[in-house]
Amino acid sequence: MTITTCIFDAYGTLFDVSAAAREAAAEPGRGAFAKEWPEIAQNWRLKQLQYTWLRAITGHHCDFWQVTQDGLDWALEASGLSDPGLRERLLQLYWELSAYPEVPAMLEALKAQGLATGILSNGSPDMLAGAVNSAGIGPLLDDVLSVESVSIFKPAALVYDLVGARFSCAPEEVLFVSSNGWDAASAAAYGFRTVWANRASEPVDRLPATPDRILADLRPLPVLVKEF
Ligand code: LAC
Repeated sequence: MTITTCIFDAYGTLFDVSAAAREAAAEPGRGAFAKEWPEIAQNWRLKQLQYTWLRAITGHHCDFWQVTQDGLDWALEASGLSDPGLRERLLQLYWELSAYPEVPAMLEALKAQGLATGILSNGSPDMLAGAVNSAGIGPLLDDVLSVESVSIFKPAALVYDLVGARFSCAPEEVLFVSSNGWDAASAAAYGFRTVWANRASEPVDRLPATPDRILADLRPLPVLVKEF
């Protein structure tokens, strides 16, 4: 069955999650943060994701903005840099994350091929609207789906169900694209066709299913989608 619908994870896949810390570090007067930002950014992301999984498993859902703040607070405290001004600046920048450079042209090419396109993300609707608007990719997306409509984070199957419900398509018509290995693997187990955008050259996650294709970035996607 051919692909009719391309669905993207947001953070780390379309939007550069390390941009907030990188941009703040480049500002004048950032002191130790200017040197330590890569480790802080990594801890921030790791804790943010761990909190989503733990909250999903224990049934203590909150929105992604809350886990984003909680993850940052953990990361700043771990580095001994719990400065309220820096915290506020990092959170502000998270609302305006830039898209990876190849994203607009890649989405334009998919639309030119007649494919439906959308985001399926843990992000809250407000956060996603902020990132989509600042990246200027709204006109290239048919919809932006947030886990908030089912109040549980990925990789719960209820989240992946949102795609079929919105686009009236079978799982095997969907190409799901994520830079998170665990998200791509879980979407593959759900029944989507999957691409893992392995931007960080990580090993494949040891999970029950593996992604159909692995790319270094999203540039080859418009050609690759025709191969399914
Ligand atoms: C998302 C996170 C997992 O956008 O990157 O859903």
